[in-house]
Amino acid sequence: MNLWLKRLSRISAWALLACVVLLVFSGWGITHAGIIYNITFGLVDKGTANTIHNATVLPLAFFFLLHVLINIKFFFSGRRPVVAWVTNGILITIGGLLLVLVIYMEYFYR
Ligand code: HEM
Repeated sequence: MNLWLKRLSRISAWALLACVVLLVFSGWGITHAGIIYNITFGLVDKGTANTIHNATVLPLAFFFLLHVLINIKFFFSGRRPVVAWVTNGILITIGGLLLVLVIYMEYFYR
């Protein structure tokens, strides 16, 4: 289980890094549309950049929570089983609530 969690933490780390880069470049595609339009050979205009920027938020939040909460879990591992259980419960609850908040803010809040 821990081996799979370690793998998941690393896979989500690289996915998170990709999301961060995408968020930054698409953000520039909104604020510095001309430069990004030129370096993408006209593929990414301001509208496309905005769509990519908005679409990246939820995956970024998901991979960030996965990467950070798994590593916090490992920080607390090796203690008494009850501590591990309580930690897991708290981390899963925090992760779930934050993900629901991101989904609400991104797709439902008007
Ligand atoms: C945008 C934010 C972050 C990015 C892009 C990121 C990215 C990465 C990457 C690429 C790795 C290497 C994965 C590998 O070895 O294959 C890594 C490892 C690690 N990160 Fe992050 N990270 C971020 C935030 C954090 C935060 C906030 C924490 C604190 C809880 C954290 C804790 C760790 C730990 C403990 C490792 C080593 C894990 C291992 O050895 O398996 N990271 N991170």
